[in-house]
Formats: sequence, C-alpha cells, structure tokens
Amino acid sequence: MTRYYNSSVPKVGIGVLASGRGSNFEALVRALKRDAIDGEVKLVISNVEDAPVLRRAEALEIPHVAIPHRDYKSRESFERAMIIELNRCDVRLICLAGFMRILSPVFVRHYENHILNIHPSLLPAFAGLQGIEVHRAVIESGTRFTGCTVHFVNEAVDAGPIVVQRVIPVRQDDTPGSLSVRVLIEEHQAYPEAVRLFCENRLTVEGKRVIVG
Ligand code: GRF
Repeated sequence: MTRYYNSSVPKVGIGVLASGRGSNFEALVRALKRDAIDGEVKLVISNVEDAPVLRRAEALEIPHVAIPHRDYKSRESFERAMIIELNRCDVRLICLAGFMRILSPVFVRHYENHILNIHPSLLPAFAGLQGIEVHRAVIESGTRFTGCTVHFVNEAVDAGPIVVQRVIPVRQDDTPGSLSVRVLIEEHQAYPEAVRLFCENRLTVEGKRVIVG
C-alpha cells in the first residue's frame, strides 16, 4: 500500500514525560525525523529539575520544562500543572519515558488510550519492578528470553494494552547490567515503532488487546 504524506496535515503533537537519563526520548526524536513519522515532540516535562533529559532536550532544541512534583500539595494539582503545559503545546499523545511518578486515574482517564509507556521486560512478566531490578529478577527467574514492551497506560501499573514488544535471549553470562544495555537497544527501536503506529492511526484498543490495522 502506498502512503501519501501530506505536509499540510498537522503532525501528532507528542509530549514526553521523563524523570532521568532520557535516552528513549532522544531515540524517539531522532527516529521521528529519520523515518518521516507524522509526529513531533512538542514538549518534554520532567518532574526532576536537574534531570539529564532536560539537557538532552535543550541540545535537540525541543521545548522543555521542569515541573517538580514536590512543589505541589497533591498528585492532582501536580498533574493539573502538567495538563496546562501539555494543552498549551497541543499535545495529543503522551509518551512516558522513564517517568518515575504514578499517574492518577483522573490524568489517565483524561488522556484515555493516548498515553504510552515503555517497560524493560516482556509484560505482563516482571511488572511493577523498575530499572536494574527488572533485569536482576529476569536473571534470577531463569527465563530464557526477555525484552521490552510499549503499552497504553491504564489505571493499573504496567498492565495496559500491549502495542509493541521486542524479544532478546538471556545469555548464560548475562548480568543485570549487560542485560539492561541490550534491552535498551531494543527499547530505542520499539518506542518509535509504537509511536509510528499511533501517528498513522492504526491502533484500536479492544479490551486488553490492541488491534493493529
Ligand atoms: C527505560 O529502561 C525504560 O524502559 C524505563 O525507564 C528507563 C528509562 O531510560 N521505563 P531512559 O531515561 O529513556 O534512558
């Protein structure tokens, strides 16, 4: 099938929420350009004022703002502050990329089926763990395969409908560190792939399943 890209059709506005390093954010920005995906990162929000992701955004000339959650009395008021900024930038799709805050049901419902997250395991296995702990648990479990998952965010942690997964073998000599490096390489492929499908309007959520059209 031939796809015609019409430069007069506005791109999907993307907002990235991140708390740390920002390698998935950077991989996404580079892939959007390289692969001519009809999406554009319009804003990066970090809840951590000195997070490296904000420096990456600066270098890539992408609008960015720190909204420290500690400055707000409640989760809801913190989220309201984020929604104001996201609206200001015409964001339609939110990508969580190492965002270390749980979103309230109010925020999740506001952007229903418009929030993606990436997790460094093959969900639903190893849900609820974070960072290097995921890879440690994978090795201890003896499983032969691991990978990453991009999923829509719903009200339960790491449990939303799955959009893209990439799989790699666990080697006998893997450590949590070596596994995290190899899984991250897959994450940098998986996230742009999921965002491309979203921007091409090809994702339909039916219950727990995502149908790719
Ligand atoms: C990634 O491993 C991602 O799967 C998890 O947090 C990490 C973020 O890494 N949710 P980075 O900040 O994108 O480099």
